[in-house]
Amino acid sequence: MIRVENFHKKYGDHVAVKDFTLHVEKGDIFGFIGPNGAGKTTTIRFLATLLKPTSGVGYINGFSVTDQPMDVRRSMGYMPDSFGVYEGMRVWEYLDFFAAAYNIKRDKRGKIIRDVIELLDLGNKKDDFVEGLSRGMKQRLCLAKTLVHDPCVLILDEPASGLDPRARHYIKELLKELQRMGKTILISSHILAELADCCNKIGIIERGTLLAAGEIRKIMSQVREALVLEIELLEPDDRLEKVLWDFPGVRNVEPMGQVTRVEYAGELPEVTRLHRELVEKGIKLLYFKEVPADLEEVFMKVTKGEVA
Ligand SMILES: Nc1ncnc2c1ncn2[C@@H]1O[C@H](COP(=O)(O)OP(=O)(O)O)[C@@H](O)[C@H]1O
Ligand SMILES: [Mg+2]
Repeated sequence: MIRVENFHKKYGDHVAVKDFTLHVEKGDIFGFIGPNGAGKTTTIRFLATLLKPTSGVGYINGFSVTDQPMDVRRSMGYMPDSFGVYEGMRVWEYLDFFAAAYNIKRDKRGKIIRDVIELLDLGNKKDDFVEGLSRGMKQRLCLAKTLVHDPCVLILDEPASGLDPRARHYIKELLKELQRMGKTILISSHILAELADCCNKIGIIERGTLLAAGEIRKIMSQVREALVLEIELLEPDDRLEKVLWDFPGVRNVEPMGQVTRVEYAGELPEVTRLHRELVEKGIKLLYFKEVPADLEEVFMKVTKGEVA
Protein backbone atom coordinates (compact mmCIF):
# COMPACT_ATOMS: atom_id res chain seq x y z
CA MET A 1 0.00 0.00 0.00
CA ILE A 2 2.89 2.33 0.79
CA ARG A 3 6.20 1.64 -0.89
CA VAL A 4 9.36 3.69 -0.80
CA GLU A 5 12.46 2.61 -2.69
CA ASN A 6 15.86 4.23 -2.15
CA PHE A 7 14.46 7.62 -1.21
CA HIS A 8 17.22 10.17 -0.78
CA LYS A 9 16.81 13.81 0.13
CA LYS A 10 19.41 16.52 0.42
CA TYR A 11 18.79 20.11 1.47
CA GLY A 12 21.81 21.83 -0.06
CA ASP A 13 24.73 19.81 1.25
CA HIS A 14 22.79 18.47 4.18
CA VAL A 15 21.57 14.90 3.75
CA ALA A 16 18.20 14.68 5.51
CA VAL A 17 17.24 11.13 4.46
CA LYS A 18 19.46 8.51 2.86
CA ASP A 19 18.72 5.38 0.94
CA PHE A 20 15.36 4.85 2.57
CA THR A 21 13.38 1.75 1.61
CA LEU A 22 10.12 0.74 3.24
CA HIS A 23 7.02 -1.33 2.50
CA VAL A 24 3.79 -0.97 4.45
CA GLU A 25 1.10 -3.56 3.74
CA LYS A 26 -2.65 -3.07 3.54
CA GLY A 27 -4.21 -2.88 7.00
CA ASP A 28 -0.98 -2.10 8.83
CA ILE A 29 -0.66 0.60 11.42
CA PHE A 30 2.96 1.49 10.92
CA GLY A 31 4.70 3.54 13.60
CA PHE A 32 7.47 5.73 12.26
CA ILE A 33 9.70 6.55 15.22
CA GLY A 34 12.72 8.77 15.57
CA PRO A 35 14.04 11.76 17.47
CA ASN A 36 13.48 15.31 16.26
CA GLY A 37 15.43 16.01 13.09
CA ALA A 38 15.68 12.32 12.14
CA GLY A 39 13.94 12.75 8.79
CA LYS A 40 10.34 11.72 9.50
CA THR A 41 8.65 14.84 8.16
CA THR A 42 10.92 14.88 5.11
CA THR A 43 9.90 11.31 4.25
CA ILE A 44 6.24 12.01 4.94
CA ARG A 45 6.17 15.17 2.83
CA PHE A 46 7.73 13.21 -0.02
CA LEU A 47 4.94 10.62 0.25
CA ALA A 48 2.36 13.40 0.45
CA THR A 49 3.61 14.64 -2.96
CA LEU A 50 4.80 17.91 -1.43
CA LEU A 51 8.55 17.41 -1.67
CA LYS A 52 10.74 16.49 -4.61
CA PRO A 53 13.19 13.70 -3.84
CA THR A 54 16.87 14.06 -4.66
CA SER A 55 16.46 10.49 -5.88
CA GLY A 56 14.23 7.49 -5.26
CA VAL A 57 10.63 6.51 -5.87
CA GLY A 58 7.49 6.14 -3.78
CA TYR A 59 4.10 4.52 -4.40
CA ILE A 60 0.81 4.90 -2.61
CA ASN A 61 -2.00 2.55 -3.52
CA GLY A 62 0.03 1.62 -6.62
CA PHE A 63 0.37 5.22 -7.85
CA SER A 64 3.72 6.92 -8.24
CA VAL A 65 4.24 9.81 -5.85
CA THR A 66 6.29 11.76 -8.36
CA ASP A 67 4.49 10.86 -11.61
CA GLN A 68 0.85 10.51 -10.52
CA PRO A 69 0.44 13.03 -7.68
CA MET A 70 -3.29 13.58 -8.27
CA ASP A 71 -4.07 9.85 -7.99
CA VAL A 72 -1.89 9.68 -4.91
CA ARG A 73 -3.75 12.58 -3.29
CA ARG A 74 -7.09 10.92 -3.96
CA SER A 75 -5.88 7.71 -2.29
CA MET A 76 -4.31 9.35 0.72
CA GLY A 77 -5.29 11.46 3.72
CA TYR A 78 -2.37 13.51 4.95
CA MET A 79 -2.21 15.23 8.29
CA PRO A 80 0.70 17.68 8.51
CA ASP A 81 2.69 18.30 11.67
CA SER A 82 1.33 21.83 12.04
CA PHE A 83 -2.18 23.14 11.83
CA GLY A 84 -2.84 26.09 9.49
CA VAL A 85 -4.77 29.19 10.52
CA TYR A 86 -8.37 29.39 9.37
CA GLU A 87 -9.91 32.52 10.80
CA GLY A 88 -13.62 33.03 10.78
CA MET A 89 -14.40 29.46 9.72
CA ARG A 90 -16.68 27.18 11.64
CA VAL A 91 -15.90 23.49 12.12
CA TRP A 92 -18.43 22.25 9.55
CA GLU A 93 -17.42 24.97 7.07
CA TYR A 94 -13.82 23.90 7.40
CA LEU A 95 -14.74 20.30 6.56
CA ASP A 96 -17.01 21.45 3.75
CA PHE A 97 -14.16 23.52 2.34
CA PHE A 98 -11.87 20.49 2.14
CA ALA A 99 -14.60 18.23 0.79
CA ALA A 100 -15.19 20.79 -1.98
CA ALA A 101 -11.44 20.92 -2.63
CA TYR A 102 -11.63 17.17 -3.27
CA ASN A 103 -14.38 17.82 -5.81
CA ILE A 104 -17.05 16.11 -3.78
CA LYS A 105 -20.43 17.30 -5.08
CA ARG A 106 -22.45 19.63 -2.86
CA ASP A 107 -25.36 17.16 -2.45
CA LYS A 108 -22.98 14.44 -1.21
CA ARG A 109 -20.96 16.67 1.11
CA GLY A 110 -23.63 17.02 3.83
CA LYS A 111 -23.73 13.32 4.60
CA ILE A 112 -19.97 12.88 4.44
CA ILE A 113 -19.44 15.77 6.84
CA ARG A 114 -22.07 14.41 9.23
CA ASP A 115 -20.32 11.02 9.12
CA VAL A 116 -16.83 12.33 9.88
CA ILE A 117 -18.20 14.63 12.58
CA GLU A 118 -19.82 11.61 14.17
CA LEU A 119 -16.74 9.42 13.81
CA LEU A 120 -14.53 12.09 15.39
CA ASP A 121 -17.15 12.93 17.99
CA LEU A 122 -17.17 16.62 17.05
CA GLY A 123 -20.95 16.97 17.13
CA ASN A 124 -21.13 19.58 19.87
CA LYS A 125 -18.36 21.64 18.24
CA LYS A 126 -19.67 21.75 14.70
CA ASP A 127 -20.72 25.43 14.86
CA ASP A 128 -17.66 26.57 16.83
CA PHE A 129 -15.00 28.70 15.21
CA VAL A 130 -11.90 26.70 14.32
CA GLU A 131 -9.43 29.15 15.87
CA GLY A 132 -11.18 28.89 19.24
CA LEU A 133 -10.79 25.12 19.55
CA SER A 134 -8.38 23.54 22.03
CA ARG A 135 -5.28 21.88 20.65
CA GLY A 136 -6.80 18.44 21.11
CA MET A 137 -9.96 19.44 19.24
CA LYS A 138 -7.92 21.04 16.44
CA GLN A 139 -5.98 17.79 16.02
CA ARG A 140 -9.24 15.92 15.89
CA LEU A 141 -10.64 18.29 13.29
CA CYS A 142 -7.46 17.98 11.26
CA LEU A 143 -7.87 14.23 11.34
CA ALA A 144 -11.50 14.62 10.29
CA LYS A 145 -10.34 16.69 7.34
CA THR A 146 -8.00 13.91 6.16
CA LEU A 147 -10.99 11.54 6.02
CA VAL A 148 -13.54 13.48 3.96
CA HIS A 149 -12.57 11.88 0.65
CA ASP A 150 -12.51 8.38 2.19
CA PRO A 151 -8.85 7.64 1.43
CA CYS A 152 -7.47 4.10 1.80
CA VAL A 153 -4.11 5.31 3.15
CA LEU A 154 -3.60 7.73 6.03
CA ILE A 155 -0.30 9.46 6.68
CA LEU A 156 -0.21 11.30 9.97
CA ASP A 157 2.75 13.39 11.05
CA GLU A 158 2.94 13.41 14.86
CA PRO A 159 -0.83 13.65 15.36
CA ALA A 160 -0.56 13.18 19.12
CA SER A 161 2.20 15.67 19.84
CA GLY A 162 1.39 18.25 22.48
CA LEU A 163 -1.84 16.52 23.51
CA ASP A 164 -2.83 15.62 27.05
CA PRO A 165 -3.08 11.91 27.96
CA ARG A 166 -6.83 11.76 27.44
CA ALA A 167 -6.64 13.29 23.96
CA ARG A 168 -3.75 10.96 23.07
CA HIS A 169 -5.76 7.99 24.22
CA TYR A 170 -8.66 9.15 22.06
CA ILE A 171 -6.40 9.36 18.97
CA LYS A 172 -5.11 5.85 19.57
CA GLU A 173 -8.60 4.40 19.89
CA LEU A 174 -9.55 6.21 16.72
CA LEU A 175 -6.58 4.74 14.83
CA LYS A 176 -7.71 1.27 15.82
CA GLU A 177 -11.21 2.08 14.61
CA LEU A 178 -9.82 3.32 11.28
CA GLN A 179 -7.77 0.15 10.97
CA ARG A 180 -10.95 -1.88 11.48
CA MET A 181 -12.46 0.18 8.66
CA GLY A 182 -9.69 -1.21 6.43
CA LYS A 183 -7.39 1.80 6.27
CA THR A 184 -3.62 1.54 6.06
CA ILE A 185 -1.96 3.99 8.42
CA LEU A 186 1.50 5.46 8.77
CA ILE A 187 1.92 7.52 11.91
CA SER A 188 5.06 9.25 13.11
CA SER A 189 6.15 10.13 16.61
CA HIS A 190 9.26 11.00 18.54
CA ILE A 191 7.70 9.40 21.61
CA LEU A 192 8.10 5.66 21.57
CA ALA A 193 5.62 4.62 24.17
CA GLU A 194 2.91 6.49 22.31
CA LEU A 195 2.90 3.94 19.50
CA ALA A 196 3.59 0.66 21.29
CA ASP A 197 0.01 -0.41 21.81
CA CYS A 198 -1.58 0.70 18.57
CA CYS A 199 0.95 -0.20 15.84
CA ASN A 200 1.62 -3.68 14.52
CA LYS A 201 4.81 -2.60 12.75
CA ILE A 202 7.39 0.03 13.48
CA GLY A 203 10.36 1.61 11.76
CA ILE A 204 13.10 3.41 13.63
CA ILE A 205 14.85 6.28 11.89
CA GLU A 206 17.83 8.23 13.14
CA ARG A 207 19.88 10.85 11.32
CA GLY A 208 18.20 10.04 8.03
CA THR A 209 18.76 6.29 8.17
CA LEU A 210 16.11 3.67 8.74
CA LEU A 211 17.80 1.46 11.32
CA ALA A 212 15.18 -1.25 11.70
CA ALA A 213 11.68 -1.91 10.44
CA GLY A 214 9.17 -4.70 10.78
CA GLU A 215 6.75 -6.32 13.16
CA ILE A 216 7.11 -4.99 16.67
CA ARG A 217 7.38 -8.53 18.10
CA LYS A 218 10.17 -9.49 15.70
CA ILE A 219 12.17 -6.37 16.38
CA MET A 220 11.75 -6.91 20.07
CA SER A 221 12.94 -10.49 19.95
CA GLN A 222 15.98 -9.39 17.93
CA VAL A 223 16.77 -6.94 20.67
CA ARG A 224 16.62 -9.47 23.47
CA GLU A 225 18.83 -12.51 23.49
CA ALA A 226 17.01 -13.90 26.49
CA LEU A 227 13.36 -14.29 27.31
CA VAL A 228 12.27 -12.52 30.47
CA LEU A 229 9.66 -14.34 32.54
CA GLU A 230 7.69 -13.16 35.48
CA ILE A 231 6.35 -15.58 38.05
CA GLU A 232 4.06 -14.91 40.96
CA LEU A 233 3.06 -17.44 43.58
CA LEU A 234 -0.08 -17.65 45.64
CA GLU A 235 2.07 -17.89 48.77
CA PRO A 236 5.85 -17.65 49.27
CA ASP A 237 7.68 -20.93 48.61
CA ASP A 238 11.38 -21.40 49.44
CA ARG A 239 11.77 -24.03 46.74
CA LEU A 240 11.08 -21.66 43.85
CA GLU A 241 14.51 -20.08 43.52
CA LYS A 242 16.33 -23.41 43.62
CA VAL A 243 14.10 -24.99 40.97
CA LEU A 244 14.66 -21.98 38.74
CA TRP A 245 18.43 -21.86 39.15
CA ASP A 246 18.68 -25.61 38.48
CA PHE A 247 16.74 -25.39 35.23
CA PRO A 248 18.96 -25.45 32.11
CA GLY A 249 19.03 -22.10 30.29
CA VAL A 250 18.15 -19.95 33.28
CA ARG A 251 20.69 -17.13 33.47
CA ASN A 252 19.35 -15.02 36.26
CA VAL A 253 16.72 -15.13 38.98
CA GLU A 254 15.68 -11.92 40.61
CA PRO A 255 13.09 -11.83 43.38
CA MET A 256 11.21 -8.52 43.25
CA GLY A 257 8.74 -8.53 46.13
CA GLN A 258 5.70 -10.60 45.17
CA VAL A 259 7.03 -11.55 41.76
CA THR A 260 10.21 -13.22 40.59
CA ARG A 261 11.89 -12.27 37.34
CA VAL A 262 13.74 -14.93 35.40
CA GLU A 263 16.08 -14.52 32.45
CA TYR A 264 15.93 -17.56 30.28
CA ALA A 265 18.21 -18.09 27.28
CA GLY A 266 17.16 -21.63 26.30
CA GLU A 267 14.79 -22.82 23.60
CA LEU A 268 11.28 -21.42 23.72
CA PRO A 269 9.40 -24.78 23.80
CA GLU A 270 11.44 -25.79 26.85
CA VAL A 271 9.82 -23.01 28.84
CA THR A 272 6.67 -25.10 29.10
CA ARG A 273 8.77 -27.79 30.82
CA LEU A 274 9.82 -25.30 33.45
CA HIS A 275 6.19 -24.40 34.00
CA ARG A 276 5.23 -28.07 34.34
CA GLU A 277 8.06 -28.74 36.76
CA LEU A 278 6.88 -25.97 39.05
CA VAL A 279 3.32 -27.25 38.97
CA GLU A 280 4.39 -30.86 39.56
CA LYS A 281 6.40 -29.84 42.60
CA GLY A 282 3.22 -28.37 44.05
CA ILE A 283 4.48 -24.79 43.86
CA LYS A 284 1.33 -22.71 43.69
CA LEU A 285 1.61 -20.51 40.61
CA LEU A 286 -0.59 -17.48 40.30
CA TYR A 287 0.91 -16.57 36.96
CA PHE A 288 3.84 -17.40 34.72
CA LYS A 289 4.32 -15.12 31.75
CA GLU A 290 6.73 -13.53 29.35
CA VAL A 291 7.50 -9.85 29.87
CA PRO A 292 7.70 -8.23 26.44
CA ALA A 293 10.52 -5.77 25.77
CA ASP A 294 9.26 -2.23 25.78
CA LEU A 295 9.72 0.16 22.91
CA GLU A 296 12.18 2.28 24.88
CA GLU A 297 14.52 -0.67 25.28
CA VAL A 298 14.19 -1.51 21.59
CA PHE A 299 14.90 2.04 20.54
CA MET A 300 17.96 2.43 22.76
CA LYS A 301 19.51 -0.80 21.46
CA VAL A 302 18.65 -0.20 17.82
CA THR A 303 20.06 3.32 17.83
CA LYS A 304 23.22 2.08 19.52
CA GLY A 305 23.71 -0.25 16.59
CA GLU A 306 23.21 -3.46 18.53
CA VAL A 307 20.52 -4.65 16.14
CA ALA A 308 20.91 -4.74 12.39
N1 LIG B 1 13.38 22.87 4.31
C1 LIG B 1 14.52 22.45 4.87
N2 LIG B 1 15.71 23.02 4.56
C2 LIG B 1 16.86 22.60 5.12
N3 LIG B 1 16.94 21.59 6.00
C3 LIG B 1 15.81 20.99 6.38
C4 LIG B 1 14.53 21.39 5.83
N4 LIG B 1 13.58 20.60 6.37
C5 LIG B 1 14.22 19.75 7.21
N5 LIG B 1 15.56 19.97 7.21
C6 LIG B 1 16.58 19.21 7.98
O1 LIG B 1 16.45 17.85 7.62
C7 LIG B 1 16.57 17.00 8.76
C8 LIG B 1 15.31 16.17 8.91
O2 LIG B 1 14.24 16.99 9.30
P1 LIG B 1 12.74 16.46 9.46
O3 LIG B 1 12.42 15.61 8.30
O4 LIG B 1 11.89 17.64 9.72
O5 LIG B 1 12.87 15.55 10.77
P2 LIG B 1 11.77 15.05 11.80
O6 LIG B 1 10.42 15.22 11.20
O7 LIG B 1 12.12 13.60 12.05
O8 LIG B 1 11.94 15.85 13.05
C9 LIG B 1 16.87 17.92 9.93
O9 LIG B 1 18.26 17.94 10.12
C10 LIG B 1 16.33 19.25 9.47
O10 LIG B 1 17.05 20.30 10.08
MG1 LIG C 1 8.78 16.20 11.98
